[in-house]
Amino acid sequence: MRIAGYFRVRAVAPFGLLASLVLLPASATAQSPQTPTFTKDVAPILQRSCVACHRPGEMAPMSLMTYEDARPWARAVKTRTSAREMPPWHIDRTIGIQDFKNNPSLSDQEIATIAKWVDGGAPRGNPADMPAPRQFAADSSDWQFAPDIVIKYPRHKVPVAGPDLYGNLYADIPIDQDRYIKAIQTRAADPQSRKVVHHALSYAVDDPDVEVSGDDSQGVDGGQFLVEYASGKNAEVYPEDSGVYLQQGKKAMVSYHLHSIGEETMAGIELGVQLYPKGYVPKHVRWSKQLAQSTAGIDIPAGTVARIDGYVMMHKAARIISFQPHMHIRGKRQCLELIYPTSGSSMKSEIVSCADFDYNWHLNYSYADAAAPIVPAGTILHTISWHDNSTANRSNPDPKNWVGDGQRTIDEMGFAWIGWYDLSDDEYKQEVEARKASSVRTTQQQQQP
Ligand code: HEC
Repeated sequence: MRIAGYFRVRAVAPFGLLASLVLLPASATAQSPQTPTFTKDVAPILQRSCVACHRPGEMAPMSLMTYEDARPWARAVKTRTSAREMPPWHIDRTIGIQDFKNNPSLSDQEIATIAKWVDGGAPRGNPADMPAPRQFAADSSDWQFAPDIVIKYPRHKVPVAGPDLYGNLYADIPIDQDRYIKAIQTRAADPQSRKVVHHALSYAVDDPDVEVSGDDSQGVDGGQFLVEYASGKNAEVYPEDSGVYLQQGKKAMVSYHLHSIGEETMAGIELGVQLYPKGYVPKHVRWSKQLAQSTAGIDIPAGTVARIDGYVMMHKAARIISFQPHMHIRGKRQCLELIYPTSGSSMKSEIVSCADFDYNWHLNYSYADAAAPIVPAGTILHTISWHDNSTANRSNPDPKNWVGDGQRTIDEMGFAWIGWYDLSDDEYKQEVEARKASSVRTTQQQQQP
């Protein structure tokens, strides 16, 4: 059997920027022709990658919708984009798959455009060039489909001021038999909540009152990741005839990150779910679980950077849909490697993703359909996680102390939330053929001399 893991390697972005600057009419601005303007060059970038969070009523500290909004922040915008701290997107751009759904990150050219705009005095440019304001679903507090069930987590108080709040809340899932999810959406319950909810990740978990659990109750046996919430995020409607298994008797858990906004707020988070009919099993069942946790345990001496490795074997062929590193405050970086089953003397493996990790941003990376790895049965998923327990890690609360594994935020973890669906052997062959037929380069071709 031929063994192959196919995915698309991103083509080098064309250097279109210089061309577009040359074409910029000198009359458009009093600046030199090379100086990008807000209306023509910068606003489109902000609209695509920033205003989902940076607009009135959302969680980012300021709006970047208009020139008046953005001008005072020009320096900070240059600094944060040049450092690739904004927008939050931590995938290593030099390794593995680069095609994702909803990737807001900026190209090197876009970052250069912003920097040139700022260095050139941050001119407004011709008002006629200003793109129409980006439209958002009427209100992200509307459901974007008709939910069959709405799960309301208990409200949580966010004080007028204080440190960010992290923790978990639980709610019942009102189903009386196992079901499959067709569409799912998290929403902040009201406009005020929308301002304080930084992140909200929902899981189906064992009842915490039955199981031993702590501050971060992802027990070893795992919960099941359902959906994340971040500003500007829409409903997830799964592709035709695919769905997520929802087991009766589980609890919904939301892992939240809330921040104060100068007014006391009772933050409300809700989960809307549309279900397939009772008894219906969709063709593709989409799984999401915490996988490849280190079996050796975590042992990070004070002041050091430690690496841990976790492995899990896929017993069936699969299409891997998403990757989300999970660590705690010392988490620095995680890579996901696929080790394909051995055939004869050949042994192939490849790193499909590496992402830096920041506990403030639990980002879920969903592979684009044409790029999602298709793996044969017997493939081993290998996570490599690095934890930085030194003073170099700015968020390290206590670099003088040893850290081990555990549930509390100050303990460590290292695994990946992996989304996938299983493929039969026939489906696997079909998918591999379809990939070959599309003119996509494969890593296997690259590996062959
Ligand atoms: C997913 C939501 C989100 C997106 C998308 C996003 N930001 Fe932010 N941004 C935030 C939040 C939350 C903060 C405040 C916390 C922090 O500083 O990390 C912030 C902070 C900032 C700051 C620092 C503000 C200060 O107080 O100094 C700048 C500058 C910034 N963002 C610019 C941008 C730009 C430019 C983009 C797009 C290229 C962008 N952001 C995209 C959420 C977002």
